[in-house]
Amino acid sequence: MIAGRRRSARVAGMTPPLDPALPLEDLKAFLRFPSISTQLEHAPDLDSCAEWLREKLTAIGLTATIHTTPGSPVVVAHSPRDPAKRTVLIYGHYDVQPAEPLGSWTTPPFEPRVEEGRVYARGAADNKGQILAHILGVAETLREHGELPVNVIFLIEGEEEIGSPNLTEFLREHRDELACDLVAISDTAMAPGNKPALTYALRGVAAMELIVRGPARDLHSGLFGGAVANPAAIVGRLIASLHDDDGRVRIPGFYDAVRLLAPWEREAAADLEAATGGDDSIRELAGVTELVGEKGFTTTERIGARPTAEVNGIGGGYQGAGTKTVLPREAFAKLTFRLVADQDPAVILAAAEEYLRRQTPPGVLLEIVTGHSGASYQSDPNSPDGLAARKALAGAFGTEPLLLRDGGSIPILATLKEILGVDSYLLGLANPDSRIHSPDENMLVENFLGGIRMSRLLLHELAGTSSTR
Ligand code: BES
Ligand code: MN
Repeated sequence: MIAGRRRSARVAGMTPPLDPALPLEDLKAFLRFPSISTQLEHAPDLDSCAEWLREKLTAIGLTATIHTTPGSPVVVAHSPRDPAKRTVLIYGHYDVQPAEPLGSWTTPPFEPRVEEGRVYARGAADNKGQILAHILGVAETLREHGELPVNVIFLIEGEEEIGSPNLTEFLREHRDELACDLVAISDTAMAPGNKPALTYALRGVAAMELIVRGPARDLHSGLFGGAVANPAAIVGRLIASLHDDDGRVRIPGFYDAVRLLAPWEREAAADLEAATGGDDSIRELAGVTELVGEKGFTTTERIGARPTAEVNGIGGGYQGAGTKTVLPREAFAKLTFRLVADQDPAVILAAAEEYLRRQTPPGVLLEIVTGHSGASYQSDPNSPDGLAARKALAGAFGTEPLLLRDGGSIPILATLKEILGVDSYLLGLANPDSRIHSPDENMLVENFLGGIRMSRLLLHELAGTSSTR
């Protein structure tokens, strides 16, 4: 019945407007998989989510395959490759962050709910709503024209939130199959005030955990306190040693490779602040009364263009109710550094380790375990493809996109550049108040539907871009 109506509409030379209920039903189905890559017990959910994607991509007319890896499967889908057309690789991820703390969600994280123009669920904006907008944009284009203006490859992985440990190897092995002219990604956010933006730079990230080990066992803090080094206090001291009073990171050499903003970037940052309400909107998004950070830089610069050291977690000692007079045998902290061009994550981790070892007093052992890391990424918003991406955003959302340097990281971008030799353009669809990684993650329905329009326009804009960049 529906197929018949669609066919006759095409014969008549027009496509009926998309019924918004259909994309939302698809999104809700996608969001029901608890595809949490950090938690091993969810491996079956990652598998079934990948299978759902494969079926969806096949149903819209692409050739889709699931590739197993030592971790979560990678889903790849192709349109028929026409050598006369340019090729766009659309990257996304179907894995999500853990939903904890579960008690802070208004409704359960994997029972999607649409309310007041938002879809609520873990993964709604990061990244299921965003990648699905592209899938549906391609589907709509195929439905309307029977073919695409560019060759499309979807590369949708299931390990982004854990640093893509198996994707580099996968890219090396499938380099030929994934050959393309550029990468398009919607895995970032719009500017404050939900203003469309092309994100032209993301920070890199380097993770480490430090564990301070002291006495052979937890001790009575009265019998031994005053005589034995306290690992929890030393972790506190190490954390405090990371910053000076001006908010600068004290690790020697930390800022050596940091690239300063070009004049046009300072202008773009000023435009952004003028258009978005600057500090006020960020205070409101964060739910704080005061913004702090490295002296001598604006908030926009500190988030987008300056490196930081953050504590993501801290623990050790007694965590239960009431008091337990104990001197803990060990304590830990989890750190990440956010990096900018041209900082090298390995160099930063080595400098940090050396510094932390020097700050560690005698009487304890410092163990350092490095985690995932990835370099920062930057592409040119004024290149032909950058301009095409901006046109697609402007057309879909009715206003010229701002240019944004964002503070989050997508480590695989630097690897895509290295292995496939192409640039990535970041057309973020998440609303700034989407609460990604937090309870009540959500995506504005208008961003999701606008994203489908954007994806359609993007395919056409990129077809016209000269491939000599
Ligand atoms: N989609 C985010 C990154 C992002 C969000 C960039 C909004 C800019 C604006 C991505 O899924 C993410 O969270 N990445 C991690 C990377 C890490 C786990 C290796 C991050 O930035 O913490
Ligand atoms: Mn993401």
